[in-house]
Amino acid sequence: MAMISRRQFISQSALAVTTTLSRGARLDAQSGQVVDPLRQRLADDPHRPQYHFLSKANWLNDPNGLIFWKGHCHLFYQYSSTIFPQGPKCWGHARSKDMVHWEHLPMAFTPTPGGPDKDGCWSGSTFINNSVPTAVYTGVLPQVQCLATSDDDMIIWRKFSGNPVVGSPPAGLAVTGFRDPSIWKEGESWLMTVGSGFQNQGGAVLLYASKDLAHWDYLHPLFTAPPFERRDSARASAYEPIGTGDMWECPDFFPLGRKHVLMVSTQGRVHYFVGTYSDRKFRAETHDLIDGSGLHYASKSFEDDRGRRILLGWVREARSKAAQNLAGWSGAISLPRVLSIDPDGALQMDPLPELAHLHGRHHRMGDAEVAGFLPAPHIQGFSLEIQLSMELGSAREGGVSVRRSLDAVEEATISYEAATQNIVLATGRSSLSPDAGGGTYRGALKLKPGEPLGLTVFVDASVVEVFANGRTCLTGRIYPTRGDSLGVGIFAREGQAHVKSFDAFEMKAISRDRLTT
Ligand code: FRU
Repeated sequence: MAMISRRQFISQSALAVTTTLSRGARLDAQSGQVVDPLRQRLADDPHRPQYHFLSKANWLNDPNGLIFWKGHCHLFYQYSSTIFPQGPKCWGHARSKDMVHWEHLPMAFTPTPGGPDKDGCWSGSTFINNSVPTAVYTGVLPQVQCLATSDDDMIIWRKFSGNPVVGSPPAGLAVTGFRDPSIWKEGESWLMTVGSGFQNQGGAVLLYASKDLAHWDYLHPLFTAPPFERRDSARASAYEPIGTGDMWECPDFFPLGRKHVLMVSTQGRVHYFVGTYSDRKFRAETHDLIDGSGLHYASKSFEDDRGRRILLGWVREARSKAAQNLAGWSGAISLPRVLSIDPDGALQMDPLPELAHLHGRHHRMGDAEVAGFLPAPHIQGFSLEIQLSMELGSAREGGVSVRRSLDAVEEATISYEAATQNIVLATGRSSLSPDAGGGTYRGALKLKPGEPLGLTVFVDASVVEVFANGRTCLTGRIYPTRGDSLGVGIFAREGQAHVKSFDAFEMKAISRDRLTT
């Protein structure tokens, strides 16, 4: 560390105080500490999660460049210093030893005036080239692919002087977008996927090859929307008129067990395909959703130091733009999910086991019959993990209620609906605020004969993440207004259900100040 004189130290500290004070901070006379009202407001904001990763303030979207390197998981993320309207995107940076506790690091890189990323450093990935941490990302506008390299700690990044390394989409292809690259090595060749698509035809993942990372040849689409997807109106939505949309963002392609998995973000929800990879083409065998709600988006995965495939996504807000601006922060990173392939060829998604290190006070209920609402009076709060194993019996629907006010005017419910074989996350009544958004989100779940419903529900202030039997996930946002909206209970509608076990844990916070420092 460079030594500085006492005089320099005093003048630099004075400068730091003046700069902070000029943003509306004040000096606390008793403690001599600088009090920043925005930071303090965010640290006290009851809607700000306590055990999810968040930026210190302002806007966060996609996780980028996930990688395990020298004892740390590095998480980069799309960051803007304004919420609405958004400013040019930068790569925020954090790291963690256990993927539970996170440490903020300086911004990795920001747009270079006059450079190919002058209007933003959009999503991308990291990889190691000859021991050198390297990032590939999309510079805008127009959308081009750029490289940057870093020192050993991944703290300081330098952009490649030959950027952009791919300056336009393949000649002759009219694409809907050209962004969010990932790079890996196969033999002597580097391969790169880029998210793209063709208007009114469907999404596409374009495949490139290179020997030196600086010069790239377009090969062919790794995968395009299968024809049945283009016609499948049952899956269609306002965002996804042709099933999986016509622009695939943030493609993520990786081997898992004996299969390969491709995830794509379709400007609505995140879809996954499980299949095989040969001749540098992917052939899909099964297809489903990473999350049914659309509030978990832009998922990316990486392999950790134990060889596990870990997935993270962007947890979007449901509340109005005005409410997000007023709050001073927007977006969170999902809890890590461990991926595997189940015997039916579907993706199995389980919460990271290390999250159990956050377990605090525990309340357990054994065998019980439920008809109507059964409160769990011994456990309540806004920071919980709930595990429910239930046999639906004669009930039409059964599940749990969280963040429930004493008079039940505010609550969010997570249940299984027998007739539709759907997991239902209902957040429409979770807040009295007209700005809260929310709705009813569904995910298909076929229980096998004799298989009980197995729900794991994480409640973290405004974030609710649901894992059902390891196969169906739903993410929601809730912004209760009432101080007593903390209750928990189990319910069964139109019949009687059997609770095999109910375990609720208070979850400890991962920082003292909701990650505002
Ligand atoms: C997905 C996305 C990416 C893009 C980034 C910009 O949410 O639209 O396609 O690179 O966000 O922030």
